[in-house]
Amino acid sequence: MPNSNQPTTQTFITLGVESSCDETAIAIYHSEKGLLAHQLYSQIKLHAEYGGVVPELASRDHVKRLIPLIEATLKEANLTQQDITGMGYTAGPGLMGALLSGAAVARSLAFAWDIPAVAINHMEGHLLAPMLEEKQPKFPFICLLVSGGHTMLIRVNGIGQYTLLGETLDDAAGEAFDKTAKMLGMDYPGGPEVSKLALKGTDKRYTFPRPMVNKPGLDMSFSGLKTFSLNTWLAAKKSGDESEQTKADICRAFEVAVAETLVIKCKRALIQENLNCLVVSGGVSANREIRAQLDTLMKGRKGTTFYPRLEFCTDNGAMIAYAASKRLEAGESSGLSFACNPRWKLEDLNAI
Ligand code: KG4
Ligand code: ZN
Repeated sequence: MPNSNQPTTQTFITLGVESSCDETAIAIYHSEKGLLAHQLYSQIKLHAEYGGVVPELASRDHVKRLIPLIEATLKEANLTQQDITGMGYTAGPGLMGALLSGAAVARSLAFAWDIPAVAINHMEGHLLAPMLEEKQPKFPFICLLVSGGHTMLIRVNGIGQYTLLGETLDDAAGEAFDKTAKMLGMDYPGGPEVSKLALKGTDKRYTFPRPMVNKPGLDMSFSGLKTFSLNTWLAAKKSGDESEQTKADICRAFEVAVAETLVIKCKRALIQENLNCLVVSGGVSANREIRAQLDTLMKGRKGTTFYPRLEFCTDNGAMIAYAASKRLEAGESSGLSFACNPRWKLEDLNAI
């Protein structure tokens, strides 16, 4: 997608536009001063009655929210459109209609404002989100990217220098959380709900398997754990037990199994790559149990763990504005025509 690559010394004030799924999010990032403003509109309520995201409804809602949100973000930063010198927009992976809504607005505004625009990969946004914090990881590091659509272990040598070490062969960890929640009759998105109920769960009443830990390599699988939750719940119901406590115990067993599996795979990746710095990002990195277990692992190894702040674990505009700023500073820009790719792979990105 990029069509130029001359590093620049220019200061950029970049507007980032995120619309890949069910969140419309805008942010402004200053290449010297950092994040100036960020705004987010979540469509959770819109999709809740369907138990998941309805793509067409998502696209239509993005169209409605984008311009007012851009205006609100400019206002929050105390800036006007004339101050913006760069534009970044999510071009994939994600839902095609949702991506196109944001990309069309961003690309058109960049044309009207006569500023460069760059297409940003949503997963790169997540991966770089910890860079928005005061304490930043240094390259190279291992990144565990855990979201609703992806679960990947990546060796990161620099921006755009990504080697995929392993990934889920079926459901993403977030997807397994969402499906477990749905089976237990809980609301969408299920991750935070399962996590909340798991707090009331009895440790070790149920023990779920740790999938693929006995197989060599760094690939993962989470669909079996979701089925384990369902079967445990059906067996409990059959015996006349439909209590909240049993639900909580299942949530606890599920969450602990996901966390321990991720810990085993992260440890293996760190040893394999001879690294001791772990970055964890994506929606599931907000999970308390997963954070606690990874922190224990890294403490034992005398290594360091980096996470985004909680609001930047899930989809947000700040991560897109940051990635766009870095790519614009490196002289990258995408042409006037734009294309979105719902399956855009991290490994296909340009190194900067
Ligand atoms: O990164 P994200 O906002 O969107 C994608 O790019 O997919 O991730 C959303 C996913 C959902 O599956 C949601 O249930 C999960 O992240 N999630 C959590 C938690 N918060 C969000 N999963 C477990 N525990 C949480 N606290
Ligand atoms: Zn995401």
